[in-house]
Amino acid sequence: MAEQQKIIIDTDPGQDDAVAILLALASPGELQVLGVTVVAGNVPLPLTVRNALNVVGLSGRQDVPVFAGCDRPLHRESVTAEEVHGATGLDGIDLGEPALTAAPGHGVDFIIDTLRREETGTVTLCTLGPLTNIATAFTRAPDIIARVKRIVLMGGALFEGGNVTPAAEFNIYVDPEAADIVFRSGVDLVVLPLDVTHKALTSRAWIEGLRALGTRAGAAVAAWTDFFERYDTQKYGTEGAPLHDPCVIAWMLRPDLFDGRFINVEIETQSALTLGMTVADWWRVTKRAPNALFIGSVDRDGFYALLTERIARL
Ligand code: BDR
Ligand code: CA
Repeated sequence: MAEQQKIIIDTDPGQDDAVAILLALASPGELQVLGVTVVAGNVPLPLTVRNALNVVGLSGRQDVPVFAGCDRPLHRESVTAEEVHGATGLDGIDLGEPALTAAPGHGVDFIIDTLRREETGTVTLCTLGPLTNIATAFTRAPDIIARVKRIVLMGGALFEGGNVTPAAEFNIYVDPEAADIVFRSGVDLVVLPLDVTHKALTSRAWIEGLRALGTRAGAAVAAWTDFFERYDTQKYGTEGAPLHDPCVIAWMLRPDLFDGRFINVEIETQSALTLGMTVADWWRVTKRAPNALFIGSVDRDGFYALLTERIARL
């Protein structure tokens, strides 16, 4: 088995964030989750924090602290996605009030303190939402940038086009200035864009397999997937829905399931038409230095087999 890796999960749950968190917490052999930092995104911060607490509670891993982070993008008004995720952000199953409470302190301080405390190059940031918390930490404490092992993030799109505008994917669009700071930071980036997540489509058999596990976690993942599938299958005309954020954790666990190119990726922050676009030099037509492993494909069966095997542990 590969060596255990230390990660911080930065997230805005969101059903797909929730599945990603469960996948990570079900994989203690490979991943040591130092903490979960929450950001405003799919729904406002009080709801994303509540959802993160419920998901960590559902996993049974009370030892993992959850911190509230930034409640709005760096320089812009909030943009949310209730039409995808429902009014709570985690519609599909009612988990009630969380048994856990948020840890004291701000998520950004946790990121800074953790990176300063842990050995340089040992902590990976796994980001599943807008990059506001990470950019704020990098701006406030530039000394931590060189201490990050890498950032593995769900965000962006190239050939697939955007999901919130024709050019932009949600996580980047919500806070393009934050994304710009992260993409220019010099940290090793692994980017899981819509080009790969739209190849990781759910199937009826997979959902029913989870339900058949007969566990709370299996039932929750099946109910969440049923909920967001309705919106996505109508939007994209596909049979299943993309399970975006678990791709980040799956890459950590099984990078061999994915394929991509090390290329230059920059963020559009000016144009009204293409705001939040990940300008990805897939064909290497510029001389701009590569800064990101931009993933383009996934072994879908392997990905879903991994998810089922891990969710079954909870
Ligand atoms: C991303 O946006 C959110 O709605 C999902 O949770 C995912 O992180 C996909 O564009
Ligand atoms: Ca998300």
